[in-house]
Amino acid sequence: MRNHRLDISPTSGALGAFIEGIDLSEPLDDSDIGEMREALNEHGVIFFRDQKITPEQHIAFAQRFGEIDVNRFFKAAAGYPQIAEVRKEPGQTTNIGGGWHTDHSYDQIPALGSILLARETPTRGGDTIFACMNRAYEALSDGLKKTLEGLRAVHSSRHVFGAGTDYVKASGDRLENAENATQDAIHPVVLRHPESGKKILYVNSGFTTHFEGWTKAESEPLLNYLYEHAARPEFQYRFTWGNGSIAFWDNRATWHYAVNDYNGERRLMHRITIAGGPLG
Ligand code: SIN
Repeated sequence: MRNHRLDISPTSGALGAFIEGIDLSEPLDDSDIGEMREALNEHGVIFFRDQKITPEQHIAFAQRFGEIDVNRFFKAAAGYPQIAEVRKEPGQTTNIGGGWHTDHSYDQIPALGSILLARETPTRGGDTIFACMNRAYEALSDGLKKTLEGLRAVHSSRHVFGAGTDYVKASGDRLENAENATQDAIHPVVLRHPESGKKILYVNSGFTTHFEGWTKAESEPLLNYLYEHAARPEFQYRFTWGNGSIAFWDNRATWHYAVNDYNGERRLMHRITIAGGPLG
């Protein structure tokens, strides 16, 4: 049996694990990366603290897990097109990601995950909440599980990142390329996770618009029920950032929500998104 080098401790009953005893600025061997991947599959999101890494090291770390999926809409960090900036300035009142969502679900092949690094954190607040979509699925009744098995849902970038949306208007200079918000994708409502094999509830209030073959009005009551159900505290973990903290989440298995409770302070995060494979 392989010896595990990393110190991995689960954060809550639902999802998340801290990984300690590793400096991500040092070269990592394949077994370190393998252990992280296993932990990501098992816990949905992994956290690191006090990492002092350069943008180049952030990029190199992400590339150990797959190709980088460059975000079309977030302003990039200066000189690093692979790194999306998630930023809120002291004079701004809205944040990026302040609602439940899963990144890139509007793409035909949604992202595997994102690696978010805290560069500048407010003195208090600015947490991110994660929710486990396997737990959410498992807690549904057998009857509803059966109904959802046959359904597919439409996800879109248009109503979020398209020209003139409230989100884009409020974002100021933080988002761009609204004319490129033309993505629509259809995905199963219940996924078999491609790596862990777990069943996942795969709809989110950020990007899912309706069930395939149903009108928006017909879809709304059931989608709202699922959103309310999946946002139950029992399925969540709330992470408090410090400078140098990293959250690496599995985009196929989790939702996240950036809490906007720090008006008057700056929060600057660097996000790298990793490309995924086809969803089952
Ligand atoms: C995001 O939604 O990707 C950003 C999350 C955060 O800033 O906490």
